[in-house]
Amino acid sequence: MADTISHDVLIIGSGLAGLRAAISAASTDKNVDIAVISKVQVMRSHSVSAEGGTAAVLYEEEGDNQESHIYDTVKGSDFLADQDVAELLVKNMPYEIYQLDHWGMPWSRRKDGRIAQRKFGGYSFPRATFAQDKVGFYEMQTLYDTCQKYDNIHFYNEWFCTSILQDGGRFQGITAIELKTGNFTIFRAPAGIICTGGAGRIFSFSTYAFSSTPDGLDMAFRAGLALKDMEFVQFHPTGVLPSGILITEGARGEGGYLVNNKGERFMQKYAPGKLELAPRDVVSRSMIKEIQEGRGFKHETGVDCLKLDLTHLGAERIKEVLAGIREIGIKFSGVDIIDEPIEVRPVCHYMMGGIHANIDGATELAGLWTAGEAACNSTHGANRLGANSTSECIVWGRITGELAAKHALAHKGQTSIQEQQVLQEEKRIYDGLFRGRGDVNPYEVRKQMTDTMDDKAYVFRNEQGLTEALKKIRELKASMWKHVDDKAKEYNTNFVNVMEIDSMLRTAEVVLVGALNRRESRGAHSRTDYPVRDDTHFLNHTLAYFAGDGGPKMAWHPVTFTRYAPVERKY
Ligand code: FUM
Repeated sequence: MADTISHDVLIIGSGLAGLRAAISAASTDKNVDIAVISKVQVMRSHSVSAEGGTAAVLYEEEGDNQESHIYDTVKGSDFLADQDVAELLVKNMPYEIYQLDHWGMPWSRRKDGRIAQRKFGGYSFPRATFAQDKVGFYEMQTLYDTCQKYDNIHFYNEWFCTSILQDGGRFQGITAIELKTGNFTIFRAPAGIICTGGAGRIFSFSTYAFSSTPDGLDMAFRAGLALKDMEFVQFHPTGVLPSGILITEGARGEGGYLVNNKGERFMQKYAPGKLELAPRDVVSRSMIKEIQEGRGFKHETGVDCLKLDLTHLGAERIKEVLAGIREIGIKFSGVDIIDEPIEVRPVCHYMMGGIHANIDGATELAGLWTAGEAACNSTHGANRLGANSTSECIVWGRITGELAAKHALAHKGQTSIQEQQVLQEEKRIYDGLFRGRGDVNPYEVRKQMTDTMDDKAYVFRNEQGLTEALKKIRELKASMWKHVDDKAKEYNTNFVNVMEIDSMLRTAEVVLVGALNRRESRGAHSRTDYPVRDDTHFLNHTLAYFAGDGGPKMAWHPVTFTRYAPVERKY
């Protein structure tokens, strides 16, 4: 059998959720031995690119309140969020903001020295807590620094996890490849937490890092766990052209606005109460309507877009709180936002769906939890509000870290590895992928897959487009693409990419099947052939289970309501 490494808790993924989980597990008991396993170097996790804010109610004395944050989140979700989960998020967040502050987080400040908050889309109060426009980077640095205080956290950088090992309905560990040596290894532990982020790289025009592929989601899916609500993909209104890099919603929070080719501030028509600070699904749909009705601009690449105007904010304010996006504008679009509006277009930014979990982040496999964007427990329902994602990572990082640590202590040393599972996994990746005999270029397959998703599963969808997309993805999946040209053992990024593409194809299929099944429009899932929300038939979560090469087996799962009955969503 392969080499084996043993720990008590395995945290797979080293973004915000993973690092917060590590600190939580480590501080639960110093005898818990924790491994954080990441396919990148920790500070290269995609969380570092979070820009605009982390939502929390900090100033009740100024009129904000938790009830309002909960309701904004539920309304933003188009009433698909589990309401007890939204409540848990909101109640935990103020503590987490001050905890980060105590650990050294350089939050931007008001003139009186208190922590500053800015406006963000869909909220009734400015509650996006920020550190200039590099929130994720500073949060990651703060958490990574804090991890260094604990002797019981061990980092495994540049290890690619490939499968979950289980026995008797319990998590037993994972298999992984060390990229430096190419060695296939077993990690055994009685508890695990998947924190591997979302799947937004299944689209070409995407804010996600290239490394943000759905390996963790697919690992859970292949292990028999459900993926939930995967049809709900968030398109952030302001992706910069041509790259898709994010221009933070904080830019609109600071007072920036969108204009069409007539110079009109068109959001006045679509969301008179909130304008550019309506939730992202509303703003993105409005932008695409403007484009479809001929009021867009053409970017030099030929892509349709609109413009975000920040010039009225003035150089001083932009340099103080939006320096990061100014740099992005200059370097990636050739535009200085101090001087001129910047061209933007809705861009894939977040997956509301993920690994099916309960309010504690527990998955269907005993001993395995999930947190952050990889998880769907379901905080955000059909549409997430901006700044609630970094919050979600921090809250469920803490919760799952503690639960996993306690579970590991109760089951210390009790793991059983089924050799057959390990052999099957070696066969899948080495015989099936590494030594595959395909002759189709995998990178071409990846490009066709992501372009298809951009074309047919974007802001507006319909039966015909989704059916065509599903047919295309299935053709790509079945084509003879599985092979690795580079036969090196060490740092074989070609092999890594092929494993990533394998997981992306299965995940794209799940998104499309879910989108076809949901014959209504809700939140970010907008069907032109079913333009109305249908609570009679679809006020349910979607579950997708792995069922072999033929595609997923689908089921429905009830939504938890506590106090808010669904009403029509208006802004
Ligand atoms: O626009 C932004 O800064 C993104 C924030 C988020 O997705 O939560």
